Amino acid sequence: MATLSVEGLTKRFGAVEAVSNLSFTAEPGRVTAFLGPNGSGKTTTLRVVLGLAEPTEGAALIDGQRYQDLERPFHTVGALLDGGFHPGRRARDHLRILATAVGVGDDRIDAALAFSEISYAAKRRVGGFSTGMKQRLGLAAAMLTDPPLLILDEPLNGLDPEGIQWLRRTLRSLADDGRTVLLSSHVLAETEQIADDVVIISQGHLRADASMAELARQVTAEVRVRTPEAGRARALLVDNGFAVTPGDTADAFIVDSTGVEVGELLSAAGIVLHELSPGERRLESVYFQLVSDLPAPPLPAAATPPAGPNAGPVTEPELP
Ligand SMILES: Nc1ncnc2c1ncn2[C@@H]1O[C@H](COP(=O)(O)OP(=O)(O)OP(=O)(O)O)[C@@H](O)[C@H]1O
Ligand SMILES: [Mg+2]
Repeated sequence: MATLSVEGLTKRFGAVEAVSNLSFTAEPGRVTAFLGPNGSGKTTTLRVVLGLAEPTEGAALIDGQRYQDLERPFHTVGALLDGGFHPGRRARDHLRILATAVGVGDDRIDAALAFSEISYAAKRRVGGFSTGMKQRLGLAAAMLTDPPLLILDEPLNGLDPEGIQWLRRTLRSLADDGRTVLLSSHVLAETEQIADDVVIISQGHLRADASMAELARQVTAEVRVRTPEAGRARALLVDNGFAVTPGDTADAFIVDSTGVEVGELLSAAGIVLHELSPGERRLESVYFQLVSDLPAPPLPAAATPPAGPNAGPVTEPELP
């Protein structure tokens, strides 16, 4: 078992602060999704975890130790990062070189190929692999030592729906065996079915650190209303404390509520409805809100986002 804890991590590249006072943990037995838009600092954080980059401040610790200080780093942490394949090399040879480097035998190569379900391509050159096949080979490499902690940077990239299902089942069973699995992604929807916990960052700052179930509870009901008396209906709803946003046409708007509440209030006021339909609010919209500069809904351990696009210098988030 291995617990990863990122503690007050800041990483600056010259004037660019890629990661800002970031803290979170990934626990054994759980799949943790590490989410954020492009350039938000995910890979930088994972590189620090793997000892490939030095933190400017703070630390990333595996059971209390930096990666560089681990007694058996390769046997403790398996990693999937971008690239690193020699196109002319056959898959099995790629794994054999790594296996030799980390001191495991041929039996582990076969096991890792089987694990990733690419045994059929063991003798093919990596240059001819599809993106999804390369991801599987990368996972095979990460699993060579059968480590208790897996750090996977965008493992879903390039996988087809069947591959995503496979990865989902695989990561689930790895976590169920007591392993710690951290996977990064920029698509919340893809990890919704995979992850137990979710850490969301934006511009290097922590935006949410919660279980997927807690995040899902932030998804409030939304209803679309269309009425020839849109002005009066909106005013009435706002007066009654409902949050109302414009719709796609002048006679339509969206209300944060259930259709029952809205229908009853409007019909009591004698307002004619042309449409009352459930909105499309899903987890993804909570994510977009969290990573945008808009005020985010409160979440456990959520950081306070900057006040707006012109909020000035990036400030340290307040962590409870
Ligand atoms: N070696 C480096 N030198 C300078 N800037 C860097 C370096 N590595 C990363 N950055 C910058 O740090 C920020 C975070 O980059 P990072 O690669 O960690 O983001 P990411 O969340 O992994 O993005 P993506 O989803 O695109 O993979 C970006 O502004 C990037 O330009
Ligand atoms: Mg990245």
